[in-house]
Amino acid sequence: MYRGRRLRVNEGIRSLVRETHIQVENLVYPVFIIEGTNIKAPVDSMPGIYQYSIDRLDEELDRIHESGVSSILVFGIPAHKDEAGSQAYAEDGITQKAIRYIKSRYPEMIIIADVCLCEYTSHGHCGLIHEGEILNDETLPLLCKMSVSLCNAGADIIAPSDMMDGRIEAIRKALDENGMINVPIMSYSAKYASGFYSPFRDAAHSAPCFGDRRSYQMDYANGKEALREIEHDIEEGADIVMVKPALAYLDVIKEVSGRFDYPVAAYNVSGEYAMVKAAAQNGWIDEKRIVMENLIGMKRAGASVLITYHALDVANWLKE
Ligand code: PBG
Repeated sequence: MYRGRRLRVNEGIRSLVRETHIQVENLVYPVFIIEGTNIKAPVDSMPGIYQYSIDRLDEELDRIHESGVSSILVFGIPAHKDEAGSQAYAEDGITQKAIRYIKSRYPEMIIIADVCLCEYTSHGHCGLIHEGEILNDETLPLLCKMSVSLCNAGADIIAPSDMMDGRIEAIRKALDENGMINVPIMSYSAKYASGFYSPFRDAAHSAPCFGDRRSYQMDYANGKEALREIEHDIEEGADIVMVKPALAYLDVIKEVSGRFDYPVAAYNVSGEYAMVKAAAQNGWIDEKRIVMENLIGMKRAGASVLITYHALDVANWLKE
């Protein structure tokens, strides 16, 4: 008789045959930096997550450093927004200033810079707008300018999340022309138009003021389309490809990691975090168990990079 239980007898044997592990090196922690002074503002829909002004950022950077997490994803929230999102590519934009500051404090920290206009535009869309339409090709030069200026500030990896067509090729070319040939691009390749982003839009003040993002982000009913998006992004020069959100898309992560020999990142997004936090605060679930189970699921599906708001907790749990 097959006795599967032989390998479950005790923790020693279980750990001997355990297939999937999370290491602190896999984790990426998102950080929100807001223009202004003396700000540490809680994001109500994301318990434990705050917006920091640069002068209060040390507290967060020290906490990250102590946890052992070495990669962060930075989101800037500017004081002034306009139609063209000009603070996104301003030399002294909030994200550029924040990156310079972080690099001055922790030069070894890997800074991944999100590239998208939605936090910077007055209308909250990810591209330029003309008569209610989100323009594609006209948006590309702005994304290129933004990418180059974020690298100039010290970003280690560029992560375009805008979902405009042709952006990876355009950004790769712009980086190369500026001598940034060694800066990797982590593309939000399969980014779905998802209800799971709403807490993030509170955190980053980036909700669209009309319509939604369904003309550029993907229809969540589609799996094959994700493979097409990934294939094109790799052809255009992506070094790491992302699937976002993660939990409702484990089939996509699995398929992508099986088909492409490129590192796959899973973004465990704000709504996924908020659901776990809310249930845990009610005492309905054991937060630590649920978080580990979710993240192991993403890794088992084939993701090697895990972007998660739980990163610091997980890093500390891994030390226990
Ligand atoms: C910017 C961006 C978004 C997220 C990451 N980059 C929001 C969106 O597309 O509306 C969402 C992250 C999350 O929900 O945690 N475009």
